[in-house]
Amino acid sequence: MERLQKYISESGYCSRRKAEELIKKGKVLVNNKIITELGTKVDGNDVVIIDGYKLEKQDKEYYLFNKPRGVVTTTSDDKKRKTVMDYFETETRLYPVGRLDYDTTGLLIITNDGEFANMMTHPKNNIEKVYIAKVKPIMKGEHVRLLKQGINIDGDLCIPDRVKIKSSDDKNSIVEITIHEGKNHEIKKMFESIGFDVVKLTRVRIGLLTLEGLISGKKRKLKPKEIKQLYALANKKE
Ligand code: URA
Repeated sequence: MERLQKYISESGYCSRRKAEELIKKGKVLVNNKIITELGTKVDGNDVVIIDGYKLEKQDKEYYLFNKPRGVVTTTSDDKKRKTVMDYFETETRLYPVGRLDYDTTGLLIITNDGEFANMMTHPKNNIEKVYIAKVKPIMKGEHVRLLKQGINIDGDLCIPDRVKIKSSDDKNSIVEITIHEGKNHEIKKMFESIGFDVVKLTRVRIGLLTLEGLISGKKRKLKPKEIKQLYALANKKE
């Protein structure tokens, strides 16, 4: 169920603000009844008619995308930079689930299913996000312990689920770090707070989804089985 104005805007009929105006003006019928209350909840089983036009149910779409470096995770960018949506040609209104920084690469889910997007990003659902970070200078066990004690980010204690040093050379370490939240710049802030710079960051796993077979800049549809598995992961951990 979602709020009527959101449902209308997500169908692509008009913006949410315009939808609110139409509702207040009594132009929107839900199951043949005029609805003027903004908070009214509807779902795909309700028949919504605006000024005589029946909203079509929007087919749900789910993609897994391997985001390249130098691309913004928004639907539009006022600085005219390339966005992740430039990789999608579709009539429906898709949007990214969570965000990866401009210089971060790797897995990003793109969908038009708001409920699914909420499920994937809510920290209580514990959907794991695994990153490979190249950090500077070299990390040692003591730094891993510091990270595992938790780092205060914007007033919240963020504790990674797992941290593992994969390798080191004379300048950098490659670290695998798993989190289940999605705060802005979470990984970079965690490393910064213990004195490390993230020079490269890639998200290599979301729940059960991996980068396997997906080269940079490419996308693939999620399989119904994969969507079910993600919901199962969320429910199991509630
Ligand atoms: N954490 C970050 O710092 N950046 C990302 O892009 C994703 C997680």
